[in-house]
Amino acid sequence: MRVSSRGDVDPFIVMDVMQAAARAEAAGRHIIHMEVGQPGTPAPAAARAALAQAMETGPLGYTVGLGLPALRARIARLYRDWYGVDLNPERVVITPGSSGGFTLAFTALFDVGARVGIGAPGYPSYKAILQALGLQTVMIGTEAQHRFQPVPADLPADLDGLLVASPANPTGTMLDRDALAALIGACADRGAAFISDEIYHGIEYERKAVTALEITDQTYVINSFSKYFSMTGWRVGWMVVPEDHIRRIERLVQNLFICAPHASQVVALAALDCTDELQANMAVYRRNRALMMEGLPKAGFTRIAPPDGAFYVYADVSDLTDDSRAFAAEILEKAGVAVTPGLDFDPLRGAGTLRFSYARSTADIEEGLARLSRFMAAR
Ligand SMILES: Cc1ncc(COP(=O)(O)O)c(C=O)c1O
Repeated sequence: MRVSSRGDVDPFIVMDVMQAAARAEAAGRHIIHMEVGQPGTPAPAAARAALAQAMETGPLGYTVGLGLPALRARIARLYRDWYGVDLNPERVVITPGSSGGFTLAFTALFDVGARVGIGAPGYPSYKAILQALGLQTVMIGTEAQHRFQPVPADLPADLDGLLVASPANPTGTMLDRDALAALIGACADRGAAFISDEIYHGIEYERKAVTALEITDQTYVINSFSKYFSMTGWRVGWMVVPEDHIRRIERLVQNLFICAPHASQVVALAALDCTDELQANMAVYRRNRALMMEGLPKAGFTRIAPPDGAFYVYADVSDLTDDSRAFAAEILEKAGVAVTPGLDFDPLRGAGTLRFSYARSTADIEEGLARLSRFMAAR
């Protein structure tokens, strides 16, 4: 059967690591998972209880395309509480995860062939989704001195759009207000759309992340219940779009997805009020981050920087290997710790980097660091 070149997207290399880890576990080995990009915790208890009740009282059929009005209103309130931004709830669109948000945003904003910039290292699916939609990815190599985020001088003149994430995956770095405003301004100068991936907002350590909505209304903000709200598998997120794009997005969401899962929207609405439980998860990430910053250099992974947010440490291991994929395989085999090769995030320089996730329990992080330490000492 003939197939499209649009469908030839790269696989996640981390999937190979996960499969190898699963094989080792099936053979009876105990593996510490520092490769996964998701919380080990479930959706908050009160949110799960809200769904149990909703299942008894209604059919949970389709919702309207833009999402449950109560959820959209509650998210608008989150912007006031977190950032002091007054947001019209009509501008909030509920999506099937932020992944669904990217599909909607890219389709709404770009014609086939448009050039969309993303930073490297960055989340690998951006490129794959752009390719699947017939768009051109413009890879912007970022520098440690700019905290691995693009700067205006990096942007070509003929860009149609720019997507940035702050806090970022895999580095955990954040754009401060000036840096974010500079990028937004540079895009406006070029007539390029600015898309802000804010999925790791809420998971911040030293200071609050800045939303693009503090700077402009002429942006698409993409967010999700996956990370801070600990709901990866529920597949629910949201997008904030300019007022004159609401109807356009409504038509797209109705046709592409009908709506985000109703049950997940119910859980999401309740999760927004589960601050105590979510802050308890944050306390674990904070403790894990401190353990990582102390333990990784002691083990011999010295080229790291403290992440501003998210739950990853991106390590330069080019002094230890020029093949991060083989190095990750060796770490799994000899140390029993699964980590992600940087090649997933940066096809050029990722051969010399690894991403360590500390989203799991503190006991797992302690054990993982002890194993890494023994492995490096024996190397
Ligand atoms: C930066 C970033 N954006 C988006 C996503 C996709 O998340 P979801 O579709 O679960 O909202 C991820 C997942 O790891 C991510 O790291």
